[in-house]
Amino acid sequence: MFQTITDKPAKEKQIDLSFLFSQHAESRLKYIQDIGKATDKVLGFLEERTKPFSGIQPDDLQPSFDKIDLNDEPLPLEEVLDELKHLYLDHAVAFHLPKYIAHLNCPTVIPSLVGEQILSAVNSSLDTWDQSAGGTLIEQKLIQWTADQIGFENGDGVFTSGGTQSNLMAALLMRDSFSYEQLGFDINKNGVPKEKLKIFSSEHSHFSTKKSAAILGLGQDAVISIPTDEDFKMRTDLLESAILQCISQGDFPIGVVATAGTTDYGSIDPIHLIGDIAARYQMWLHVDAAVGGGLLLSDEYKYLLDGIEKADSVTIDYHKTFFQTVSCSAFVVKNPNVLSLISHHADYLNPKDQKANGYPNQVDKSLQTTKRFDALKLWLTLRNMGKSQLGAYYDKTISLTKMAAEMIEAHSSFVLVNPPKLNCLVFRFEKSQHENIDWNTLNKDIRKALFYNGEALVAATKYKGNNYLKFTILNPSMTSADLKEILGLLEGLGLELIKKLEYKLEN
Ligand SMILES: Cc1ncc(COP(=O)(O)O)c(C=O)c1O
Repeated sequence: MFQTITDKPAKEKQIDLSFLFSQHAESRLKYIQDIGKATDKVLGFLEERTKPFSGIQPDDLQPSFDKIDLNDEPLPLEEVLDELKHLYLDHAVAFHLPKYIAHLNCPTVIPSLVGEQILSAVNSSLDTWDQSAGGTLIEQKLIQWTADQIGFENGDGVFTSGGTQSNLMAALLMRDSFSYEQLGFDINKNGVPKEKLKIFSSEHSHFSTKKSAAILGLGQDAVISIPTDEDFKMRTDLLESAILQCISQGDFPIGVVATAGTTDYGSIDPIHLIGDIAARYQMWLHVDAAVGGGLLLSDEYKYLLDGIEKADSVTIDYHKTFFQTVSCSAFVVKNPNVLSLISHHADYLNPKDQKANGYPNQVDKSLQTTKRFDALKLWLTLRNMGKSQLGAYYDKTISLTKMAAEMIEAHSSFVLVNPPKLNCLVFRFEKSQHENIDWNTLNKDIRKALFYNGEALVAATKYKGNNYLKFTILNPSMTSADLKEILGLLEGLGLELIKKLEYKLEN
């Protein structure tokens, strides 16, 4: 006999079901009206915003948030959206404007936004067939398509929240497959082995590889940084000698991460050569193509990814170079069987016999359980816009980057660090006729001043320990006039600041 918690039934609160998204006419009407109000606000954002950033700083914005008590009586949606305009929309960084060329944020294509509308309304969860049905098949078909573009005959994989999660999966599979196959040690059951396992990546690889090693109990020192050549590509001679040194110390080289499109320089490691080295030492090859993945779409530049088919796994960030909304990313493997290393079964969700009965479940291959149906956005984009147009968008951004590199090189106020490979350029304001200037502080301050004014947004990075500026060009609607204007703004700020005594160095 079950005991009830209390004998006295609690007084039931009146609930207002009009907020619930449902089949009822009242709900459908509210959905249309409220989504219409939200759309108006988004259109206002597009119409009103002329510069990528308002320049607002946390101290200016925080007081408006401090005034809000989330326990207050609720407000009509119009008022909530007006409030949101002041709190967020008026200051949100506008990636759709061509003078935003800071980080790897792309403007998005409309089929992707249509996908967001449908996927959030239907709210499928892509962990199991019984929570998604056709959604699972859409994700699987897109993974298959991506694997085909890479050159994996029978590949498999899963959509992830981003490149960081995809790179984590790569390090996880490297670790677990090595331990299982070469040490005969089951990490899933026993935890991390005592042997020192090492991963190799270029000094310019993304920090998520080190972070993954730390998360996976290998320690971030397990990632050996290999120096790059003058084109910012991994030096394969140094890779091989580092592997040999690792072996001579009694440690175990388990995998290499080749970066196809480094975050700062857009450089692509020599994948073919790295693949040969990885094969020679029976190591896992992961290609982090979070940035360069868009090359798969390009007739003109796809050859830059030659050798990617040698990889055991690949990271592709559709939310970077496929113009998809955040988040939309994939982790793809050549051998589908390796994914069983991360399969866990729960009676309530994905019992083992369900697979035997032919039900496809993405949760068997994923670190996530509940999982967004991000695949729908790419599906609608490929079906409605097509691979060729999408590739043309990406090609355009590469030619714009080349144009920007030429402009910087021709300019007497700037020095360019890297040759234009994909979408990133590292450079700085530096006028040769001025001597004894602290260019480091000056360039840091130029970027800060531009950030306060918001007319354009550029990024900052370090090259050989010094402060530089960075363009990441991902907007195909950008023109040479935009580039000229941005360089003009940077030069103007540089010339104004250089007059100040504080940038003069003592002799
Ligand atoms: C080369 C590279 N890999 C991985 C990542 C991480 O991707 P995400 O931000 O989607 O997690 C980035 C992000 O910039 C990147 O540049």
